[in-house]
Amino acid sequence: MTQPVLSAAAAACALCTLNAFAQTPATAGVDPNVFLNQFESTFGKFEGFRRSGAKGICATGEFVGAADARALSTASAFSGRPVPVVVRFSVGGANPKAPDNTRSQRNLALQFNLPDGEQWQLGNISAPVFGASSPQQFFGRLASLQPDPATKMPDAAKVKAFADANPEVLLQGRYFASQPVPASFGAVNYWGVHAFGFVNASGSKQFGKWIFEPVGGVQGLTDDEAKAKGPNFLFDDLRQRVKDGKVAFNFNLQLAQADDRIDSATVPLPEGRRKVNLGLLKITSVAEDGGGACLTITYNPLVLPKGIEPSADPMIAARAAPYAIGLGRRLTEGARQQ
Ligand code: HEM
Repeated sequence: MTQPVLSAAAAACALCTLNAFAQTPATAGVDPNVFLNQFESTFGKFEGFRRSGAKGICATGEFVGAADARALSTASAFSGRPVPVVVRFSVGGANPKAPDNTRSQRNLALQFNLPDGEQWQLGNISAPVFGASSPQQFFGRLASLQPDPATKMPDAAKVKAFADANPEVLLQGRYFASQPVPASFGAVNYWGVHAFGFVNASGSKQFGKWIFEPVGGVQGLTDDEAKAKGPNFLFDDLRQRVKDGKVAFNFNLQLAQADDRIDSATVPLPEGRRKVNLGLLKITSVAEDGGGACLTITYNPLVLPKGIEPSADPMIAARAAPYAIGLGRRLTEGARQQ
């Protein structure tokens, strides 16, 4: 495969990342190199691949913002004019051969290319919660799962001790166990899991958590169907559905109320919070192979447009540096995703 060259978008994004660092509090928590080393010790090192969301595919999309979104935020993403989007779909985890037919995480990463070089990057997952509420807790969980060199398996006592002391690390796994295997990258919900502030023209800020919900509805597979599909069906399924014009998501925002917790990726907003439609994302093309513009992007949730602000959730800022280090490692090794 050809050596990836940093695209103009990726180069622009490198600047976004620098800007994002400028806004990052100094208390990000865990050294990003140590974090990345722990990913590799726990899950294995797969050269060139993302250390999380390794198996993936690039796509392109178009987003059109809705009038209700303009009332909430001045972000140019919501102008109502079509915005080009660099999309990446992936299967959760560090293993590039992760099977498509198990009850595990799917990801939807987006880069909105906005007027005047502005960008908005969003990394979304197919669960309403993340597996940890702070970088230290996430690091501790990964360390507890590190295989013992003798048995090549995690030490069950260590895993249990950590989870007993940090019960929220089990919530995400429980959610996946309760759901069927997604029938398609285009037929599952993707949550942002963090709260962000939406700032409008009069300066008022509304916090909320977003969800990308498939227009055609959520579709799951029975266990027999999942078995019959085998471990590699998601890429071809996506190409076919996009060719048929069938992959689109409503970008919806659940609005937080005054006493809701908005600083935790393991605590969803209460059921029944008002949901506002921010616009429609249509997927317009899918890469034929492992290449494409998404390959050299790291989707950093601190790359935000004017009109959108991070909440106090410590996990938002904690993602920026490990992603940048991860991008550096995989570019040096020769970036790949299939
Ligand atoms: C401190 C906490 C976290 C760390 C250290 C971490 C680490 C990573 C790393 C190293 C990557 C690969 C980046 C790259 O090579 O470009 C990644 C990808 C990803 N992470 Fe995280 N992550 C964290 C929290 C989260 C949270 C809270 C979410 C929830 C939305 C999340 C969602 C994703 C997604 C969707 C991807 C794949 C994005 C893509 O397609 O490029 N991560 N993460």
